[in-house]
Amino acid sequence: MSKTPSTPADVIQPPGDSAILIILRLLETDTSVDQVKDVCGSLAAFVRSLKKREPDGHISALMGFGAHAWGKLFPEQPYPKELKPFEEIKGDKHTAPSTPGDLYFHIRARRMDLCVELASEISTLLEGAVESIDETHCFRYFDGRTIIGFVDGTENPENEDANYFSMIGDEDETFKGGSYAFIQKYLHNMKGWNNISTEEQEKVIGRKKFSDIELSDEEKPANAHNAVTNISDENGEELKIMRANMPFANASKGEYGTYFIGYASTFTTTERMLRNMFIGEPVGNYDRLLDFSKAVTGTLFFIPSPELLSELGGGDD
Ligand code: HEM
Repeated sequence: MSKTPSTPADVIQPPGDSAILIILRLLETDTSVDQVKDVCGSLAAFVRSLKKREPDGHISALMGFGAHAWGKLFPEQPYPKELKPFEEIKGDKHTAPSTPGDLYFHIRARRMDLCVELASEISTLLEGAVESIDETHCFRYFDGRTIIGFVDGTENPENEDANYFSMIGDEDETFKGGSYAFIQKYLHNMKGWNNISTEEQEKVIGRKKFSDIELSDEEKPANAHNAVTNISDENGEELKIMRANMPFANASKGEYGTYFIGYASTFTTTERMLRNMFIGEPVGNYDRLLDFSKAVTGTLFFIPSPELLSELGGGDD
């Protein structure tokens, strides 16, 4: 079960203290394709330079491509097996919308100034070739908590499992070492959330708020977030994804959110979790967290391995 190529996509590291998520639309100009390829070829060098300037900055960057953009940018390439536009998932009460996105950047660092530096270097190369759909600046909240107060990322896969569940393996040889990134911006109804007791919040998430300890099977309702997203394959083996969620906020506008970022070796796993959350299994057992959290975006991207990214950019980074 070999899943570790020489240089896998850098998807398994912790969410970081600061992050910028950028979603872009590709414009059809005479130079836009070449400009994007220039970024593919330059990104690793940009990160290297920043690491030299700030050795303790924990800087990393991932670049991804939506299904439409992949075909336009690299017509000579096959499609990664699971790259397709995300299709809206509509439950009786809540909907996971599908929103556009051609290019994706996930920049992480210890400080926001480092993220902004890298974002501005990328943006300079892309000037006139793209327009911004969304840029969100995210922060670490205390001990790695979501803005709704619970520790996030506890059950992420670790060690060998981290690579196995977050990166494409032998099943799609051309794209080995890449990953499927699914992102969703959620806005929380903080008043509604703060109006319920801590005990009730714990039943929504399925863990204790302060200690982060999982509720027992007897205590945990079937519609708790960690019950509906806990899925297994046909042999009863647990299926996981690597989550790098980050909080964001605009306090004066009353906006408090979670930027869900899920990296997976196969999008099918993430999609099953989403169906369980929004439709329910059985139907109707939707995720109680959605009564306090509204998904406002939803886009699937393919993240190439660093080797492939450099190749797509012409090979000389
Ligand atoms: C677990 C928060 C959306 C997948 C958790 C936990 C928290 C959390 C606090 C418990 C600690 C942990 O194990 O990390 C949130 C918030 C979301 C969100 C605030 C957005 C409003 C999603 C989405 C997915 C997902 C969209 C999948 C598509 C998971 C999984 C677990 C988990 C797989 C671990 C379940 C287990 O214990 O086996 N989430 N999450 N989450 N979440 Fe989410």
